[in-house]
Amino acid sequence: MSIHMGENILEVNNLSHSFHRSGKDNIRAVNDVSFNIKYNEIFGLAGESGSGKSTVARCIMNIIRPSTGRIMYDGINITDKKEIKSHKKKLQCERQIIFQDSTSSLNRHMKVADIIAEPLRINNIFGSGKEERHYVIEMLEEAGLNESYADRKPYELSGGERQRVAIARAFGMKPKLLIADEPFASLDAGIQMQMVELFLHLKNEHDCAILFIAHDLLMIRFLCDKVAVMNDGKIVECGNTAEIFNAPSHPYTKKLIDAIPIPEVAEK
Ligand SMILES: Nc1ncnc2c1ncn2[C@@H]1O[C@H](COP(=O)(O)OP(=O)(O)O)[C@@H](O)[C@H]1O
Ligand SMILES: [Mg+2]
Repeated sequence: MSIHMGENILEVNNLSHSFHRSGKDNIRAVNDVSFNIKYNEIFGLAGESGSGKSTVARCIMNIIRPSTGRIMYDGINITDKKEIKSHKKKLQCERQIIFQDSTSSLNRHMKVADIIAEPLRINNIFGSGKEERHYVIEMLEEAGLNESYADRKPYELSGGERQRVAIARAFGMKPKLLIADEPFASLDAGIQMQMVELFLHLKNEHDCAILFIAHDLLMIRFLCDKVAVMNDGKIVECGNTAEIFNAPSHPYTKKLIDAIPIPEVAEK
């Protein structure tokens, strides 16, 4: 166990972000959002499409710079350019993200082994190619794919297999914080549940915190210790997943709970 700066790996304080559109009104995508994620916690962020979830994720990954607010990652102020610069390597290695659509996030001309190895190479994790190859195969297997996938390319894989590659790549970096932005939204319901199980397994093996983003509450219910519900750029409700499911206090949360599809086992 490493020595922690506090109990939270991530503290998001009063985060707001507006997109500027020339000739039109600005879009206030994120409006005064605050939440904390503890070390090793799985935190769910739910909300319909357009509610601002990905914008929050992109601010945490330093892909976009928020208009206002502060984000602390492991004691580092990642809304401060100087601090980002002086902790560049740590931030690059420890924060990983998986996107919904791996068709566009994985380079289709690269072999799977190289896709998984790329961040390891950038950060000089392994001295020899042999060591690296061995590790890449290990990560593939952890993600439920065998060695034969190593030399294939993304377009030769199914959507579920591509997400497994993205998972192997992200967990291969041994992240302390993994952001999964609707990672299984484009997969069939049955495969979604397999992926949820895989995620739980990997999380236990790897000891990391996860920000799991989803538009509905189905997978969040299985996966997450805590959940925040976003609507129109704001968090309308936040708390322990079980408590929120038992007694949602906001009408929007109730609506999302009612929208959860009935499990297939109920069908004949
Ligand atoms: N790059 C962008 N430029 C302009 N508007 C954007 C951009 N990205 C997102 N938005 C807008 O910000 C709002 C929140 O989007 P997003 O964070 O992607 O929501 P979600 O991930 O919950 O679907 C939406 O109204 C969306 O259209
Ligand atoms: Mg999104």
